[in-house]
Amino acid sequence: MNIIVVKDYKEMSRKAAKIMASQVILKPDSILGLATGSTPIGMYEELIRMYKNGDLDFSSVKTFNLDEYYGLNKENEQSYYNFMMKNLFKHVNVKKENINIPDGMAMDTEKECLKYEKKIEASGGIDMQVLGIGANGHIGFNEPYESFEPITHLVKLDEKTIKDNSRFFNSVDEVPKTALSMGIKTIMMSKKIILLASGESKKEAIIKTIKGKISPEVPASILQLHKDVTFILDEKAAEEL
Ligand code: GLP
Repeated sequence: MNIIVVKDYKEMSRKAAKIMASQVILKPDSILGLATGSTPIGMYEELIRMYKNGDLDFSSVKTFNLDEYYGLNKENEQSYYNFMMKNLFKHVNVKKENINIPDGMAMDTEKECLKYEKKIEASGGIDMQVLGIGANGHIGFNEPYESFEPITHLVKLDEKTIKDNSRFFNSVDEVPKTALSMGIKTIMMSKKIILLASGESKKEAIIKTIKGKISPEVPASILQLHKDVTFILDEKAAEEL
């Protein structure tokens, strides 16, 4: 386990972008696992900057997003599809056909999840997966639970997650109660993982993830078993370590 502690959000974003960029430079046809949330936005901004400077080329890259709210269509302002378009894809040259995000409007969720899982497998697997972390230790939308959910699945969102994510919606009632998310095995199969965390609200989740018992009650704690995981934390998120 590699732990990098930096001063603040800006430095975290720059460090993460450099790691992502080196992945793409070394392997132009990388399969990237991408995350949403406020945490990776700064990293995406840096990647866009590098692309615009001519230092990065995404034309052979394939992407798989971690998750999507269930019941929100692509046009919905709060869908993760929309988030990814706005914060990354419309500014860089990832080919449309190489972008993969679970379909939040799928009628048959089981079929959609299986299809997503198979597609990841068929691509050769994720080379580098980016993760944020929920204040309750969730990764993707793998919520604290009695067991680890292995593959892409439909999740019932935790009360805490609904409350935390309500800041992006007009009211808490508008936050979807379910989502489609890669599973823990899907994430753990990634060849490399980088987890980003910034701010005091993440410090408890971070200490439990890195130093706590490995338990499905803190889904991110499973990362202790991954052979190539790097935590990029700002000082506030790393405060308790
Ligand atoms: C959502 C996403 C997670 C993300 C988490 C934290 O629940 N599904 O992938 O890590 O939010 O979000 P933020 O980065 O805004 O704190």
